[in-house]
This record gives sequence, structure tokens and C-alpha cells, in this order.
Amino acid sequence: VDKDGTRVFDLRMQSGHKEFNKGRRTPTWGFNGDYLGPTLRAERGEKVKVRIANRLKEASTVHWHGMHLPARMDGGPHQMVEPGDTWSPRWKIDQPASTLWYHPHPHGATEKHVQRGLAGMFLVDDKPSSGLELPKKYGVDDVPVIVQDVKFDGADFDHGHGFMQSTGFLGDRTMVNGTMKPYQEVGDELVRLRLLNASTARIYDFGLSDDREFALVGTDGGLLESPARMNRIQLSPGERAEIVVRMKPGEKTVLRSYSHDTYGDAWQQRFSGGDDSFDILQLRAADKLRPSPEIPGELGELEVPHGKDSARERFFELRTSGINGRAMDMSRVDETVTRGTTETWTVRNEDGVPHNFHVHDVQFRVLEVNGRRPPAELRGAKDTVFVPGGTTVKLAMRFDGPADPDTPYMYHCHLLFHEDGGMMGQFVVV
Ligand code: C2O
Ligand code: CU
Ligand code: CU
Repeated sequence: VDKDGTRVFDLRMQSGHKEFNKGRRTPTWGFNGDYLGPTLRAERGEKVKVRIANRLKEASTVHWHGMHLPARMDGGPHQMVEPGDTWSPRWKIDQPASTLWYHPHPHGATEKHVQRGLAGMFLVDDKPSSGLELPKKYGVDDVPVIVQDVKFDGADFDHGHGFMQSTGFLGDRTMVNGTMKPYQEVGDELVRLRLLNASTARIYDFGLSDDREFALVGTDGGLLESPARMNRIQLSPGERAEIVVRMKPGEKTVLRSYSHDTYGDAWQQRFSGGDDSFDILQLRAADKLRPSPEIPGELGELEVPHGKDSARERFFELRTSGINGRAMDMSRVDETVTRGTTETWTVRNEDGVPHNFHVHDVQFRVLEVNGRRPPAELRGAKDTVFVPGGTTVKLAMRFDGPADPDTPYMYHCHLLFHEDGGMMGQFVVV
């Protein structure tokens, strides 16, 4: 914390090596280390500043995924940091407690930069008026779970994919927080897992190995109004979920990703990874567990709009070739929104290839999925939503940041191969 009370973080983008498999040093990238980056954490109302140094041989950016902040600080493709340069964005945290993350966003190369290891979590805390009783001992009963799929070719990462894999790279194994075959020792009756799908294309359908129920307490942008019990939660790239799992003394259970059928036809199902299943993280409970307080029945109030006062409706047609028939152009502003207004965005997947949709700066409410009320896992604050083939989602979001007609924010498919290929557009707030 510096003199004027600003919380200051240092992030160094660097190359390195990591031994994922014994005896094999894999070339990697990371923030302040060989792979991934530190968890940053700040409180609502706090001013933050991040001093970013690019020690790589390539230009990159650092984007704050899910963060409400001025466009100039967003770290999108217009805020490139050249090799040897520094960039120090600053902003005031002005949103509810949530599990956000950061990753590079260089236009056309985001997939590559994330795959090499540039990603980390950014946790926002809020005054604990509610949600007070949720597990919150970081790394003990409140655990970050960054899930990535990988493949190796000897010591090196193999990032290749065939033309049939229309969603991009799919690995043949997964890791958590950069660790292969991971396990977590649990000493409390309840453990909160902050799941982040930091994979570039893979969609996970998380559940526990004995199919027990867990409580979903938070989504991308914060806590739900009340916990939702379920035994599966699907996350597409970029999405987060906070779940609370009840453990029994001495037991072992595994967080898995199950095969799932959400892609439309059998072809997409197979080549988009729907048939695959993985053991993600083993949970090992101690023989004696510390008692945890019950999960509160009410968690807080959602701060996303209902959409009834929407000033404007917009339509977005998703195809691999581009959004609304246009591939991303850095010099074209696609949408201009008015500061202080709520809008309804209707997003439709028109080409059968699985996509998702992410909007910078805002958290939105999913009003409808194919004309119906969304399922429990889509009733919280979201910044990224899965849009399988033939699906239409209707979203309500409010633009209340500062106006900046010269600096655009992005909206895009977060399957990074698609994003890099042009499934991205730009909007300004005026
Ligand atoms: Cu997670 Cu535009 O990004
Ligand atoms: Cu983002
Ligand atoms: Cu896509």
C-alpha cells in the first residue's frame, strides 16, 4: 500500500521452465514465476495499481477479466506492452466480492500466450454484510482451482490441433494451478472451491466422483442471492463458479469433469471434447474435521440489472468467421453505448460450432436462454456465457463507467482460437 492508500501489485511477465513431468523441463511463461501468476486480492472501494513489466521477447497485454474499470485500464488489445516496457494501470475496485482473473489479450495471439502459462486469479472482497459464514481461509477451506487442459510432445507443450477440432486446442489431460495429478488436503467440514476454466477451448462439466450434491454459491461476478444445490456445473472457457462441498472425515473424493452432451450433433460432441472425462482434483479429508458453520440461506443481493428499463436492444450473431458477419478490426468501433444506461443484448449462435460470449467491463444478468428462464447456475452475475449451437441468450447489462469515446472495450467468444480468428468486436461508452 503506498502513501495515498493505493494497493500496489507488481507483475512481471517472464519466460521460464517447469517440470510438469519428472525429468522434463517444459519451456513456459508466467507472472513473477515460471507458470501462472500470484492471486491478487483487493477490497471493494480500494484503489489499486498494478505495475506490469514485460520481460518477454514478445509484446503482450494484461486484461482484468470480469473487472469493472475504465477502458484505458482494461488491458485489451489496445494496451499492448512492448518487450522491456512497463504499464501501470490503476482503478478503484467498485463491484461485489467475486472471483475474477487476469490474462493476456494481444489480438491474434491470446490463445498462445495463455497456453504458455500467463493467467492468474484476482479476488475481490466486499464488506461481509452477508456471505460472512462462507469458508474463507485462503488455501485451507477456500481454494483457487485453475483448470487447464494440456498435452505434451516430449518436454514441450503440444498446442497443435486438427482441422476437425473446430473449437481449437484440446489437451489429453488436465492440471490444477499448474500441477499434474493434484490433490487438496481438507481439514474442515466444508470446502469452497473457486473454479476457473482457464482452458482455451475445453468445456467442463464438473461434478464429484460419488455424485454428491454441492452448493453453488457464486458465479462469474459474485455471490448468488441464495445457494443452489446441484451435482453438476458446466463451465466454458473464462467462466467461474464458487462451489461449497461437504466432506466426511477420512474420505477421499474426486472433482471430475464428466462427458456431456451440449453441442448439438454427434460430430460437434466428439470433436469439441464432449465425450471426454477427466479426474480434475482429488480432495483428501483429514480423519478429524473442524466444524464449519452452515452455509447461509441468503448470500446477498445481485447487482445486475433486470433489463426492464433497457434503453436499447442489440443483436449479436455468432459465427466462427465473425460476429454479425464481421471479423474483428482493431480500427472499427462496432457498437456505441450511452453511459449510465441499461441495454439488452441478444446473442445467437448461428453456426452449430460451440461458442461463448464475454463482455468486458460489465457483469450481466442472463434474462433468457432460448426464451425460457435460465437454470440456477445462470441466475447470478455473469460476464461470460456458454452459447451452444442454435442457442439464443438474452442478457441485461448496465454501462456505468466513465465515458471514453477513444478507447474501446471488447466483446468476444472466449474460445481463444475463435477470438484470435476474429470472433471479437469493439464497443465504446460515450
Ligand atoms: Cu478473458 Cu476479453 O477476456
Ligand atoms: Cu474480459
Ligand atoms: Cu467461438
